[in-house]
Amino acid sequence: MAHRAILTPIARRVALPALRKSSTTANASINHFRRVVPTAAPKSNRASAAKSSGFTADSYPEIIRDPRFAKLTKKHVTYFKQLLGKESAIIDGVTTDDKASEIEPYNLDWMRKYKGQCTLVLKPGSTEEVSKILKYCNENLLAVVPQGGNTGLVGGSVPVFDEIVISTARMNQIRFFDELSGVLVADSGVILEAADQYLAERGYIFPLDLGAKGSCHIGGNVSTNAGGLRLLRYGSLHGTVLGIEAVLPDGTILEDLSRLRKNNTGYDLKQLFIGAEGTVGIITAVSIHCPQRSKAINVAFLGVESYEKLQLAFREAKTQLGEILSAFELMDSRSQDIFHKVKGNKRPLEGEYPFYCLIETSGSNSEHDSEKLEKFLEDVMTKELVTDGVVAQDETQLRSLWAQREGITETIGHWGGVYKYDVSIPIKDMYQLVDDVRTRLDEAGLIGETDEFPVVDVVGYGHMGDSNLHLNIAVRRYEKVVENVLEPYVYEWISHKDGSISAEHGLGLAKKKYIGYSRGDTTITMMKQIKNLYDPKGIMNPYKYI
Ligand code: FAD
Ligand code: MLT
Ligand code: ZN
Repeated sequence: MAHRAILTPIARRVALPALRKSSTTANASINHFRRVVPTAAPKSNRASAAKSSGFTADSYPEIIRDPRFAKLTKKHVTYFKQLLGKESAIIDGVTTDDKASEIEPYNLDWMRKYKGQCTLVLKPGSTEEVSKILKYCNENLLAVVPQGGNTGLVGGSVPVFDEIVISTARMNQIRFFDELSGVLVADSGVILEAADQYLAERGYIFPLDLGAKGSCHIGGNVSTNAGGLRLLRYGSLHGTVLGIEAVLPDGTILEDLSRLRKNNTGYDLKQLFIGAEGTVGIITAVSIHCPQRSKAINVAFLGVESYEKLQLAFREAKTQLGEILSAFELMDSRSQDIFHKVKGNKRPLEGEYPFYCLIETSGSNSEHDSEKLEKFLEDVMTKELVTDGVVAQDETQLRSLWAQREGITETIGHWGGVYKYDVSIPIKDMYQLVDDVRTRLDEAGLIGETDEFPVVDVVGYGHMGDSNLHLNIAVRRYEKVVENVLEPYVYEWISHKDGSISAEHGLGLAKKKYIGYSRGDTTITMMKQIKNLYDPKGIMNPYKYI
């Protein structure tokens, strides 16, 4: 029975670091930024997952290497070496055989589920170099995979066979920032967190934030059309990206780095690259509209007794918090159990609840915002929609509450692997999918606490404010028998609810063959026409997407 609990401690302002005055610096290098790779499961578990998944080509024998593509030779490598000059710009495992360990991170995806067999990694330092690389690859029928931070979750960022990896790691300059409009123009290889830090120093915020911010590149974010933790507030990249510079497979440079918010002059070609996952070209720079950074941020972490109550609390949050609501994130009890089991830290709330939500407000007037949040919290507790909760009192607490949510992705892989489904479904039906999948796996005798069962648990979390659920199945090992119980069942379930099989992670290799569950035949045909128009030889990220 839910009762009125004391909300401890009550909202307090959290000041962001002082905003430094700065000029609109062009070409500011942010090379120094520390790359934070999300650490996932302990080495032993991760290694076993990699071992059991093996090469993608072996796990998915139905995918056949396209015989039209050439095999890399010494001659090709000589060309790339001459072009890129610097030794650090190329990892050559074609003519040297001691590069396997250096190349491995480019072959293996973040989940350690997909593993390619590439032997050449190219790291161009400029748009012109990308153009020359692609022109040469197109002429010589060499397939390529663009790669940013390699944090993608659908197997799109790593090769399937021997495709060349073209990494944007060396293209990491801020090209322009306008303090009046908030328009940022930056190379595609700038790490998201570095871009945000650059903006923070100038009073602005990058309009996207996600758990992999320490590693992912803004070009990778745009290429996946990542949604993240504050889409609710700042909207989709389809709205905030103002322009793009990209290189087409034949080497043509599309220079469309508009800095204008309004520009109705013909087809909006940049939209084609947002979410294209490297299938039509390589994004080399992005122009993006960045909002003012809020001075007052509050974060509340709440325990809720049922999914019905959570929906009502969300409705109240939208009504009562209005324009200051910047995140409304859902976590079920199992996701939090796993987080605590793996991290071993103290839970924010004393009791345990079937559901938790994290609410963030950001605004310009801390007194006003705190008052609004307090009133809202009092109201939802009086109405018994929320049973218990805490509000961060300082930035350390704020970060630790966010860690409860952002850390799920990492901890869920602890036992070896995860089947991830990133779905859009009308909010009212959203969580039912988690229960149904759990029942199905249970009935198939696949879930259990001991090693003989491949499945550890089924959890749900996500961006409730965007109707975006992350259904995750934590496994001890990837097994076809599990996959066959899950697919196409999950996709059929989603399709039946008129949902989307990919809300924000994209299609990559994982979802490629299921696109028909969310898109009609005519749409798919038009997509194929576009792909064929811009990449007639099919060298861009083959075997993926469509
Ligand atoms: P990569 O993984 O390197 O590439 C992703 C795709 O884009 C690939 O198909 C690749 O070929 C292509 N690509 C990369 N760069 C370019 C380029 N310059 N031009 C053309 N194509 C390119 N996603 C969300 O939407 N919301 C989240 O909240 C979220 N949280 C995450 C949390 C964690 C811990 C992790 C590991 C991942 C998360 N993701 C999330 C998934 C992922 O989409 C993002 O991390 C990010 O957008 C990927 O950027 P990246 O630079 O790592 O791209
Ligand atoms: C998230 O919301 O945490 C990300 O999309 C990653 C994930 O799905 O685990
Ligand atoms: Zn997400």
